[in-house]
Amino acid sequence: MLRESDVLSTLLRRKPAHSLAQDLYCDPGVFKADMENIWYRDWLFVLPACEIPKAGNYLVHEIGAYSVVIVRGNDGEIRAFHNSCRHRGSVLCKSKKGTGPKLVCPYHQWTYELDGKLLWAREMGPDFDASKHGLKQVNCRNISGMVYICLADDAPSIDEFEAETARYLAPHDLENSKVAFESTIIEKGNWKLVWENNRECYHCAGNHPSLCRTFPEDPRAIGNDDSGEMAGLQSSHTLRCEAVGAPSAYRVSQRGDWRFVRTPLLDAGESYTMNGKVAVSKPNSSIPFKDAGALLKFKYPGCWNHFLSDHIIVFRVTPIGPMETEVCTKWLVHKDAVEGQDYDLKRLTEVWVATNDEDREVVENNQRGILSPAYQPGPYSVTHEGGNIQFVDWYASTMVQAITGVDTTVAAE
Ligand code: FES
Ligand SMILES: [Fe+2]
Repeated sequence: MLRESDVLSTLLRRKPAHSLAQDLYCDPGVFKADMENIWYRDWLFVLPACEIPKAGNYLVHEIGAYSVVIVRGNDGEIRAFHNSCRHRGSVLCKSKKGTGPKLVCPYHQWTYELDGKLLWAREMGPDFDASKHGLKQVNCRNISGMVYICLADDAPSIDEFEAETARYLAPHDLENSKVAFESTIIEKGNWKLVWENNRECYHCAGNHPSLCRTFPEDPRAIGNDDSGEMAGLQSSHTLRCEAVGAPSAYRVSQRGDWRFVRTPLLDAGESYTMNGKVAVSKPNSSIPFKDAGALLKFKYPGCWNHFLSDHIIVFRVTPIGPMETEVCTKWLVHKDAVEGQDYDLKRLTEVWVATNDEDREVVENNQRGILSPAYQPGPYSVTHEGGNIQFVDWYASTMVQAITGVDTTVAAE
């Protein structure tokens, strides 16, 4: 198990534009360092706000050693709290999801308001100060209908991301959406392999027969070319969408931790369906045409999303162990869309259910191959895997900065 100083020297020795050293994909010490320096420090997407629409609706999210309750208050605000009672620490919310007018500890029934204040604790004596025993709050922001949390006391600024999200998501009505379907899969691979697989479509032709019906492989069309160059089709698509108020141009943050780009689907495809036509007849966007393509958004380390003209798909990545990662996918449709009438659930979900499973398999194969003593880091395709180069550069510079305090970020295009 590597110590943090070993992790640092492994990162500093890495060969640019190559996959990472074996240890970085499997060592428990690296996993610990990743959790402490990235996952416990950065903003993480947890759920779409529309999933907890009413006061008292809550959802529990586990991340590493932490368990967090995300709950909507009587004032409509969404807040996050550590899921640990202030009496003797019991888990407060035992189920993954629920609803209640208060948060009541199952152990001795200490009772908290939805805003975390301790309301009631039986016979704690005259000197007990309830105001000092409220739930511990976790940083929480509802960013255009997507809820993010940050476990760090000193959360990094997320203002620019918030402003850009508001701009890009404006035509997509997350607030008036609902979860039509969700799937949670466990991939037996390091979280960075899950991301690397996401950031390129070099593997698509050989692995994704249904996705390839609509999703373009061209790295310049999907923002996976690090040069910032865009294909002609992409440029005309951007102009067409922006003319109707749907921001679409490629935009990446200076740190490289988030990116937006709206890309056309193949052959004027409308949605990720087997025939390329919309899956939902009551759309949750205001874009006046169906072939608006997909607004591709990622925010490292926790999510990537696709915003289409008719529905939205959000993916959440959660590391479980050095070689185990959860991928939770949610399909969001307009809240008034009726299953069987406005959409068929199988048609809506089949492409990405299949694609997720295909991705799971390639990630697991990748992990197993990396465990061979014969593995050595190999070169990324500059043409197709610019997104991987961008991802590992972000990973390495984020880790080095967190461990040493020195910023080695090379500004993104
Ligand atoms: S541990 Fe929660 S009430 Fe005792
Ligand atoms: Fe894939």
